Amino acid sequence: MVNLLTNAVRYGSGRIVVEAAGHHGHVTIAVSNEGNPIPANALPTLFYPLTRANAPDRSGTAAGIGLGLYICRCIALAHQGTINVDSTKQGTRFSVRIPRSPLPPN
Ligand SMILES: Nc1ncnc2c1ncn2[C@@H]1O[C@H](COP(=O)(O)OP(=O)(O)OP(=O)(O)O)[C@@H](O)[C@H]1O
Ligand SMILES: [Mg+2]
Repeated sequence: MVNLLTNAVRYGSGRIVVEAAGHHGHVTIAVSNEGNPIPANALPTLFYPLTRANAPDRSGTAAGIGLGLYICRCIALAHQGTINVDSTKQGTRFSVRIPRSPLPPN
């Protein structure tokens, strides 16, 4: 949540919306922001470590190193869940889906 919200503040503009919902077999969390879309060619590797979509426009402690979304994905996968991004000129939305009852390990 901290990384998704920090990203929304850093890279987005306009309203930031957080939605959380419980469903029969899973829960979902989504963080959305307005602003410029993430370039389509960056989306396939966005969750890879040390990946940044745009040239860093900040320096010093405000500069990211491109690990946050990779860690988000690791956390989602560790819960047998998923994380996805949808980014258009209407806005960017990161969605996490986690099952309520993960399968036991083999
Ligand atoms: N909400 C967003 N809107 C637009 N671009 C985003 C958004 N979230 C992430 N990005 C893009 O995805 C890249 C990767 O994000 P990630 O959180 O993995 O790394 P970071 O924020 O650069 O660094 P770190 O999280 O390690 O401090 C960002 O550098 C940015 O270009
Ligand atoms: Mg980040």
